[in-house]
Amino acid sequence: MAGTGADAREQVAGRLLRQAGACERLGSPLSGLLLRAAAEDVAAGGPTWAVLAPHAGGHRDDALGLRLLAAVHRLVLERRAPALAVHYPSVGGTAGPRGAGAAFLAAVADHAAALRDLVARPCQTNEVARAAALLGGFLAVARATRLPLRVLEIGASGGLLLRWDRYRYTAPGWSWGPADSGLTLDGLFARPPAPDPPAVPVAERRGCDPTPVDVGTQEGRTTLTASVWPDQTDRLARLRQALAVAAAVPAAVDREGVATWLPARLADLVPGTATVVYQSIVEQYLDDDQRAARTAALDAAGARATAAAPLAWLRFEPIPGTPDFVVDLRTWPGGTTARVATATPHGAAVVAR
Ligand SMILES: C[S@@+](CC[C@H](N)C(=O)[O-])C[C@H]1O[C@@H](n2cnc3c(N)ncnc32)[C@H](O)[C@@H]1O
Repeated sequence: MAGTGADAREQVAGRLLRQAGACERLGSPLSGLLLRAAAEDVAAGGPTWAVLAPHAGGHRDDALGLRLLAAVHRLVLERRAPALAVHYPSVGGTAGPRGAGAAFLAAVADHAAALRDLVARPCQTNEVARAAALLGGFLAVARATRLPLRVLEIGASGGLLLRWDRYRYTAPGWSWGPADSGLTLDGLFARPPAPDPPAVPVAERRGCDPTPVDVGTQEGRTTLTASVWPDQTDRLARLRQALAVAAAVPAAVDREGVATWLPARLADLVPGTATVVYQSIVEQYLDDDQRAARTAALDAAGARATAAAPLAWLRFEPIPGTPDFVVDLRTWPGGTTARVATATPHGAAVVAR
C-alpha cells in the first residue's frame, strides 16, 4: 500500500538520490543532476511526487529512478518535450546542464498522466556491452567442450545479448569475433579473455522475458534507446549498431518468466551441443520462488548432463552488499564453479580471470 505522507516522500526521494549517485559513478552526470532535481521535487510534494506516489513503499531494487529517467527520455525521443530536449545529447541537444533540472521538472508536470503509465513499465536496459563481460564464459565452455553452443538467456529483454557471438571485440593487440561485424566492442577490457576458440558455432539462441522488447519495431527500439542514459553517446551508438546486427540475426525471446520457461528448455539436453543458460543484471528482479525454480531446473538438468550433452550456468550479477559485479560459471557434469571475470555494471573495465 503506497504511503502519502512526508515519510513516504522521503523514502522515494532517498531511492532517487541513491540512483543519482550510481549514475554519477557510472559516468552520467546529466542523469545524476536530473534525479537530484526529481528527488528534491518529490520531497517537496511537487509534480514528480504526483507521478511516483503509487510506487512509494516499493522495493529498493525496483529501479524506480531508472524507470523515471527512461519514461522522460522516451518523451524526449518522441519529440514531445522540446524544451528539455535541448539538454539531451541523445537527440543532439547541446545546451549543457544549466537549466536541465528545471526543464525536466516542467516536462514531468506537463506530461504527468503519460508518465504515470510509463513509469509503471519495468526497467528494460538491454546493455550490449555486457556481452564483453560474458564473453570469457562462453569461450570457456566452447574451449572445454569443443561443441556448438545452445544459448538460453533468462531476462533477455530485446535479445541483444543473444547475438554475443556476432559482435567484434577488440583490445590492444587482441581481438575476437567476426571482422565484418556491424558492432565492434572496443575499449571495454582491462584484461581480455584468451581468444580461444577463434569462432564459436551457436546451434540455438533463445531467451525468455515476461516483458520482451521486440527490436523489429520502432516501439521496441525506442524502449531500449530510452533506457540508455541520455549523455552516454557511446552506449547509444553501440545500441544503434547492435540493433542493426539484431535485424540480420534472428533470435527468439519468449514472453515468459524463468520459473516456467527454464524447466521446459532443460527437460532435454541436446546431445552434440553444450547448453549455456545465462543471465545478466536480472537477479534483483526475481522473487524467491522464481530463483528456487531456476535453481531446481539447473540442478535437475545438471544431474543428467554428460560429456556429450553438457550444461553451463553463466551469470553476470552484483555480489550482494558490495559494489562488485562478477561473472561466474558453473559447469556440469561435475557442477564446479569458477569466476571468469569482473566488470562494471554496464560491461566496461572487464578483467578476465
Ligand atoms: C535490467 S534488465 C537486463 C536485460 C539484459 N539481461 C541485459 O543485461 O541487458 C532485466 C530484465 O529482467 C527481466 N525479468 C524480470 N523478471 C523476470 C523473470 N521472472 N524471468 C525472466 N526475466 C525477468 C526484465 O523484464 C528485464 O528485461
